[in-house]
Amino acid sequence: MLNLDFHPTGRHFLQIPGPTPVPDRILKAMSYPTIDHRGPEFGALGKKVLADIQKIFQTQHPVMIYPASGSGAWEAALCNVCNPGDHVLMVETGHFASLWQKLAARLGLKTEVIQFEGADSVLPNAPAWRQGAQPQQIEDRLLQDAQHAIRAVCVVHNETSTGVTSDIAAVRRAIDKAKHPALLMVDTISGLASARYEHDAWGVDVGISGSQKGLMLPPGISFNALSPRAIEASKIARLPKAYWGWDEMLETNPAGYWPSTPNTNLLYGLSEACDMLLGHGLEAVFARHSRWGQGVRAAVNAWGLPIQCADAALYSPVLTGVLLPPGVDADAVRKIIYERFDCSLGTGLGKLKGRMFRIGHLGDCSDLTLMAALSGCEMGLKLAGVKLAGSGVLAAMDHFAAHPVVLPMQKLA
Ligand SMILES: Cc1ncc(COP(=O)(O)O)c(C=O)c1O
Repeated sequence: MLNLDFHPTGRHFLQIPGPTPVPDRILKAMSYPTIDHRGPEFGALGKKVLADIQKIFQTQHPVMIYPASGSGAWEAALCNVCNPGDHVLMVETGHFASLWQKLAARLGLKTEVIQFEGADSVLPNAPAWRQGAQPQQIEDRLLQDAQHAIRAVCVVHNETSTGVTSDIAAVRRAIDKAKHPALLMVDTISGLASARYEHDAWGVDVGISGSQKGLMLPPGISFNALSPRAIEASKIARLPKAYWGWDEMLETNPAGYWPSTPNTNLLYGLSEACDMLLGHGLEAVFARHSRWGQGVRAAVNAWGLPIQCADAALYSPVLTGVLLPPGVDADAVRKIIYERFDCSLGTGLGKLKGRMFRIGHLGDCSDLTLMAALSGCEMGLKLAGVKLAGSGVLAAMDHFAAHPVVLPMQKLA
C-alpha cells in the first residue's frame, strides 16, 4: 500500500508553476459521483463548461476540450491545420517552445526556429531564454517568404521555463504588417486564466492551454481555442488525425457531448473553476497575479539575484525565474528547501538546468502562502551558502502591505 498523504503536517507548499495547489472547492466538486456521459445531466454540464471556457479564452468561437495534458493539445493544434511537410515558424523562447518544436518535427513538419539574437552578460549561453518573441524579427522573416510557404507561426505566450510573457498582440500585428496568411498558434498553457489572454481581440487562430495552471485544476484536460480561419484550414488539412480531429467535436459539442468519453470529474472541477474565475472577473484575476509577481520580484531584487526574464515589460505574472550565482547548483538549493521546509520549487529546465529555480505564483495562493514560500526560499538560500544582498522576505512583506489586495480568491470559496 502506498500512503498518498505524502506531507502529513500542514499543507505542502506546491510552489512550482503548475500543477498548482487546487482550491478545496474544486477538489470537492471533483468528488461528486461520476455520471453517464451520454445522459441528460452531462449534456447540461458539457454545454456549461464549453460556454464558460469561451469566456476564459475571451472568444466567441469554439473551444475543443481534450482529456489530455497540454502536449496533446499542441499535437491537436498542428495536426488539424497542417499538411505533411508544411513549414512552420517557431519562436524559441525557452524549454517549452523547444519541446513544441520537437513535437512538430516528429509530426513530419518542417520546423524553422527563430530566436532573440542579442547578447546577455548574465546568461551568455542562453540569451534568448531571457527574452520574449521578437515581433520585428517575425515580420522580417515573413516578408522574405514571398511564396507564403509558412503555414503557421507558433509562439509560447507565457514561457513557463523562464517566466517571460511574450506580447502576442504585437506578434499578430507583425504578421498583419507582413501581409502574410500564416496562422498564429499560441501556447497559453501556463498563461490562460492568470496572465491576460484575449483570443479574438489578439487574432489568435489556435490557442492552446491546459488545466493544471491558471485554471487551478489537476492535470488532465487541455484545450484548443479556434478561429474561423483555423476551422476553414482544418477542413482541407491532410496531416493524419483521428482522435484529435476537431470535426467530430465540432459536431457533438453543441449538444454538450463529446465523440468519446470525456473526463467527467475533471469537468466538474472545470465548471467550479470557471465559476470562481468568472465570478471574480478576469480583470481581477489578472491584477491579482500581477501583484503577486511584483511581490515575488521585490523579494528576488532584495536578495540581489537576477530575475530570469531580462525584459521588465515581459515579466510573467505567473512565475518568477531566479538565476543563482555561477557555481551554485540551483537544484541543490531546491533540495534543501524541499527537505527542510516542505516547499517544492520549479527546477531549471533544459539549458537552465542547475542554473535557476522557478517560483510559481498561481493557483490556490494568497499573500501569506507566498510569504511562507519566500521564507522557505530565503532560509534555503542561506543554508546553501548563497550570499544575499538583503532580505527578500522583508521586501515582499513591505510590498504586499503597501499594495492592497483586489478581493482575494479565498473569499469566493
Ligand atoms: C508553456 C507550456 N507548454 C507546454 C507544456 C506541456 O504541457 P504538458 O506537460 O501538460 O503536456 C507545459 C507544461 O508545463 C507548459 O508550461
